[in-house]
Amino acid sequence: MNHFLEISQLSYNQIEQLLARANHFKKTNQYPSFSTHRLANLFYENSTRTRVSFELAAHNLSIPVINLSSANSSESKGENMGDTIRTLAAMGIGLFVIRHSQDGLQQALANQLGNTESIHIINAGDGIHAHPSQAMLDLMTILETKPFLSRLKIAIVGNIRHSRVANSLVHLFSLMGVGELTLVAPDIWLPDSVHYGRATNSLRDGIEDADVVICLRVQRERLLDNEHIDLQTYRRDYALTTSTLGYAKSDVMVMHPGPVNRGIEIDDEVSDGTQSFILRQVANGVYMRMAIIESLLLKAP
Ligand code: CP
Repeated sequence: MNHFLEISQLSYNQIEQLLARANHFKKTNQYPSFSTHRLANLFYENSTRTRVSFELAAHNLSIPVINLSSANSSESKGENMGDTIRTLAAMGIGLFVIRHSQDGLQQALANQLGNTESIHIINAGDGIHAHPSQAMLDLMTILETKPFLSRLKIAIVGNIRHSRVANSLVHLFSLMGVGELTLVAPDIWLPDSVHYGRATNSLRDGIEDADVVICLRVQRERLLDNEHIDLQTYRRDYALTTSTLGYAKSDVMVMHPGPVNRGIEIDDEVSDGTQSFILRQVANGVYMRMAIIESLLLKAP
């Protein structure tokens, strides 16, 4: 593959290959060197986990990293993003990790740049559309503890309608054959259509006997005026607390892509509790992003 844009463009075999390489890196701590390559982190929305883990992933692969944002690049002077990428490519940069608020921007850039073999675009989150590297590291984390996906009941709780993470996870869980998937949200935050799994507005119904509960951040910045919900009402009906988690299996994995709004969608006792895999997700992100970068540079089929 030349770009890493969204889960629906990956095959089952490509996903298996990425998981295998990420697990290999984690197990061996032995990494190949791609020191003749360069990577640019172009983040036009804030990020801690994704930006830093792509940077660490590149460092582990001996790839120098350049960090740019709209504020500190010539885009603040009117340059368009295609020209910014061509300019950086002329200096020898081939890998572009891009986060942007516009749905589909990375795909549009990939189309615009054509099949320039030496340019690889990695989607680090586009609007409410996709966050494929997050979905991949989430899958890696689940499989480490619960390897039989077809037997699992997974629930995703939160603002599904505006979540690029949920979008990518639904595609990934569908492709990999997760046994049961439930999307849990107030009606106004449920998607118009569900192509895999089922939707419910009841937290109890959604997480009952779940093996994995993935809690999403309440993304207030993405809501339209008529989509706001009183946070205390949301908390009352949908927060993961020690009490509500009792609906799920006793060995449930609690996950959250971060950043976490403590005391809103999840309580400290749950996010810091023994069932929490939140920091494991963060740690696995570095290995998964190494696998993604490697697959682009080796042009894995
Ligand atoms: N999960 C995630 O995308 O977190 P950041 O916004 O910190 O990158």
